Amino acid sequence: MRIGVLNGPNLNLLGRREPDHYGTQTLAEIEALLVERAEASAAELTFFQSNDEGDIVDWVQTNADLVDGWLVNAAALTHTSVALRDALAGSDRPFVEVHLSNIFAREPFRHTSLLSDLAIGVIAGFRASSYLFGLEALVRVLQGRGEAGAGKAE
Ligand code: DQA
Repeated sequence: MRIGVLNGPNLNLLGRREPDHYGTQTLAEIEALLVERAEASAAELTFFQSNDEGDIVDWVQTNADLVDGWLVNAAALTHTSVALRDALAGSDRPFVEVHLSNIFAREPFRHTSLLSDLAIGVIAGFRASSYLFGLEALVRVLQGRGEAGAGKAE
């Protein structure tokens, strides 16, 4: 099973960026935790982070046939990007949306996600653990062991 792990703008700064919202772990540390967890499920992870919307869309298009599902923290693009929404929908692969912070407890503009109704599920607010819970949920669904909402990209 292959999973593409996508991180959007500014998540390269994790560890020193607004730790009250995002915790103190770096993206590299989070990715190492995910690799460790994925090994137990025999899942293979491919990581990508970019600050550039076009590069992210290109990466989704290029990898769609190579993965079984996506773990997505689109960061600010969550709230703005029709292009990323369309890329994920067009990939025809299920995805779990994750956020380090609880976006619903923050500014109103963060309460809207252009991705959530396509996702098989959304996990927000558990800092780095959001990714681990998201991976676990996605693996369970891909293995046919878990139930999920009817994501349109499924
Ligand atoms: C975020 C929440 C977004 O609103 C924000 O733009 C981010 C990170 C999170 O993980 O909590 O960059 O996706």
